[in-house]
Amino acid sequence: MWSTAREIAAGDLVIVWLTRDAVQPLVITPGKELNGKYGVYRHSDLIGVPYGSKIGSRNGRGFIHVLRPTPELWTLALPHRTQILYIADIAFVSSWLNIKPGSRIIEAGTGSGSFTHSVARAIGPAGHLWSYEFHEARVNKAREEFSCHGMDDIVTLTHRNVCKDGFTVLDTVDAVFLDLPMPWEAVEHAKKALRKDRTTRICCFSPCMEQVLRTVTALNDAGFTDITMYETLLRPHQVDSVPALPHIGQVSEKLKKAEQKREEKRLRQIANSRASAAGKRKRPGDADESDGGRAEGSAGKRPKTDDEDDVLQHEDGQLPQAENHPSGRSAGAAETEEAKFPQSVTESATPTKTTFSKTFPEVRGHTSYLTFACLLPAIPSAQADPATQEPVPSD
Ligand SMILES: C[S@@+](CC[C@H](N)C(=O)[O-])C[C@H]1O[C@@H](n2cnc3c(N)ncnc32)[C@H](O)[C@@H]1O
Repeated sequence: MWSTAREIAAGDLVIVWLTRDAVQPLVITPGKELNGKYGVYRHSDLIGVPYGSKIGSRNGRGFIHVLRPTPELWTLALPHRTQILYIADIAFVSSWLNIKPGSRIIEAGTGSGSFTHSVARAIGPAGHLWSYEFHEARVNKAREEFSCHGMDDIVTLTHRNVCKDGFTVLDTVDAVFLDLPMPWEAVEHAKKALRKDRTTRICCFSPCMEQVLRTVTALNDAGFTDITMYETLLRPHQVDSVPALPHIGQVSEKLKKAEQKREEKRLRQIANSRASAAGKRKRPGDADESDGGRAEGSAGKRPKTDDEDDVLQHEDGQLPQAENHPSGRSAGAAETEEAKFPQSVTESATPTKTTFSKTFPEVRGHTSYLTFACLLPAIPSAQADPATQEPVPSD
């Protein structure tokens, strides 16, 4: 569909990866510049550069990656004219509809052509996709893009209201995909377009449950079977590197020191209370060697309180840090991980970083419900009861 050459040439479509959230298409046009907050890039500088390269900007303000287009990247970069299908749904729909090289497929509406590109790649030149759209400006833009992307032989795009006028092929396709506001109005037309010599499939993509209910009714009425509905949700993971947790040996050393300090403090407190008890029995002003604690206090070195000692332990001890480690694991857990995945944390004797992944607390929003159904092959009339079209039982 796109250039398969190793290097970028004038006129190629490349996908410019600026950041994870900023991906844009670029047709290489000598004389033009790509100019933005990530720097200035002359298109002519990209000619002859291998696809996948990292390019520094002319003004040193950043860099970009220049990638070979794929349907997945096109879905991230395409200019939106409508809501589009994203990869999770595209993959699930393609799999359920059994879309493969040589398949003949119908989609309506075309919208921004996100689904179209993935299907075109999957079916290849041996297959065919009939795509329908009733919004004229969208048809024209999609036609221009499909042509530029070398999809003319694979995709036939028709300007048509499929709910009113149906499809342009009969008894032909292996599967139908409907991304329409009222798919139930196109179900009977879809049935006519599906081939009758084998089991075929349909999928309707609808954001609301009310639409699903009407579609299911229409599918039942039209004789579709195996009606089932799914919702696909994305659960992204964030992968980060954080300073490594301390080794268990270091932690136990710290604990021993903290324990020793606590014991010293306890002995000091006993000595102090004995001294103060003895002091109460003497007249004020009498000197005594047991005055050590108070003498120290009067010299400005106040003995620490219980709370202060705790703070010190937190300041110099690793234990509280480990409890709050972003990986959510304790030092002990790090030791166990080390045993389980030695290569990940023991590359050097004292690892400096730990890589971990955590899921976002919220699952990303619902896009749509996917209603699937099958249409079983028609029974040859010789084997069917003429009244009911049910198979006649053989003896
Ligand atoms: C949500 S968009 C489809 C997005 C597309 N699946 C994609 O991935 O880019 C729905 C499209 O269906 C078109 N449409 C709505 N009703 C239609 C009808 N009865 N016949 C043909 N197209 C229709 C709309 O104009 C719109 O462009």
